[in-house]
Amino acid sequence: MELRIGLIGCGAIGKEHIKRLQYKLQRCRIVAVSDVLESGAKAAAELAGGVKWYMDVPSIVNDPEVDAVVVCSPGFAHKEAILCAIEAGKPVFTEKPLATTAADCREIVEAEMASGKHLVQVGFMRRYDRGYNQVKQILDSNEFGAPLIVKCTHRNPEVGTNYDTPMAVHDTAIHEIDVLHWLIDDEYVSAQVLMPKTTKYSHPALKDPQIMLLKTKSGAIIDLEVFVNCKFGYDINCEVICEEGVVHMPAPSFPSVRRAGYYATPIEQSWINRFIDSYDVELQNWVDCAKRGAVEGPTAWDGYVAAVTADALVKAQQTGAEEPIVTGVMPAFYRQ
Ligand code: NAI
Repeated sequence: MELRIGLIGCGAIGKEHIKRLQYKLQRCRIVAVSDVLESGAKAAAELAGGVKWYMDVPSIVNDPEVDAVVVCSPGFAHKEAILCAIEAGKPVFTEKPLATTAADCREIVEAEMASGKHLVQVGFMRRYDRGYNQVKQILDSNEFGAPLIVKCTHRNPEVGTNYDTPMAVHDTAIHEIDVLHWLIDDEYVSAQVLMPKTTKYSHPALKDPQIMLLKTKSGAIIDLEVFVNCKFGYDINCEVICEEGVVHMPAPSFPSVRRAGYYATPIEQSWINRFIDSYDVELQNWVDCAKRGAVEGPTAWDGYVAAVTADALVKAQQTGAEEPIVTGVMPAFYRQ
């Protein structure tokens, strides 16, 4: 039996996921879409091959032909859709963030636990990236000993003028926040942000670059450079320094060229291309798990941890001090 999906929010990523779920992935099909804009809902229904469309959350979630829900609306609208799906007892995949405040994330966690079913997955797709998984496999083998330092970069060629200092956390570092504690199997305890000299390509509301430091329970330190006007490419790097050696995440492969006095390898230019395969793997895994009532990917608890960590980093941007990250103990419900 195919998983029959209702997709909420038919903007940029919503349309990408419609194409992916309807025409590329296996064992699923989109049966309904919804958007607050009628034109958006209708166009997306066409894109999906002429499916039903709605303009409100309860109608699509409670449609008896909808087995599971995918949420691609803006972050502020996620909570309503997720709580509605939990109430209906239907699996729900939500694009990140889980919700826009830690309190709202906690409310979702509590609602899911009260339902007694594992229903919520958050779209932190880097956990499905080949490179991160190769690094994780090596770390989990224990052959390199314990991770001590993690050095990462998240560089974008440039950003729009509406992008400001807190967005370096909410829109950019948020992906590392999720993937890194999973990668080294640890928990964050504190956050600090150092502000080097700002590039001439930035503007007064954006400090760029920033160095974000996250300390973990085991004592490891993560050093993440966020530099969103680096000009040269979308450059994601991750290196884990362990007791017995160093593990470096492979970059996507490009041919090296020798020309005009240079030996060069191109750098990816677009975030869309860098993690394109991860979205396919992520959603196929979600479909297959949802059919058997399981969640293998990032949970609502992970969404909550990301929100609490992001809050601490934003506070640290303002204070310059080391700020505590207090999530409390992971409930037994989420220990798999
Ligand atoms: P967008 O602005 O292009 O599309 C949002 C759509 O949702 C619009 O069509 C809008 O009319 C609709 N909408 C607004 N309120 C709604 C509501 N209450 N119910 C139903 N529909 C509603 O935004 P975009 O870029 O597609 O982002 C959507 C979500 O996906 C965001 O949470 C964003 O953070 C996330 N995202 C995740 C990425 C990833 O790498 N995992 C990449 C890009 C976006």
